[in-house]
Amino acid sequence: MKRIALIVAVCGFAFASSNCAMCHNGGMAQKLDTLTPAEIVKKMKEFKAGKGNPMMVNIAKQMSDKDIEKVAKEYGKK
Ligand code: HEC
Repeated sequence: MKRIALIVAVCGFAFASSNCAMCHNGGMAQKLDTLTPAEIVKKMKEFKAGKGNPMMVNIAKQMSDKDIEKVAKEYGKK
């Protein structure tokens, strides 16, 4: 379990801002296209403020608001 957490943490750091699909389309977390871009932005800002899943908090803290808007458009409901 500890090992999995470590791998996930490392992956989170390495791919966070460019590869949301690694977890979100890979079966580890829900797909993001059920949310609208606005909803994703809102959630990411909550994560950035330290609320919610610690994995996502870590990722969101490394992203600028611009990054967040970009991935929200990319991954959100079309
Ligand atoms: C290392 C794996 C991982 C990566 C990479 C990752 N996420 Fe997540 N994310 C999770 C987990 C785990 C949850 C919480 C479980 C869940 O809600 O399905 C979550 C939850 C979320 C939620 C909340 C979903 C909801 O309905 O409450 C959003 C939004 C989100 N992630 C967006 C992103 C975006 C955008 C990226 C890319 C910048 C990203 N995630 C990258 C693992 C990851």
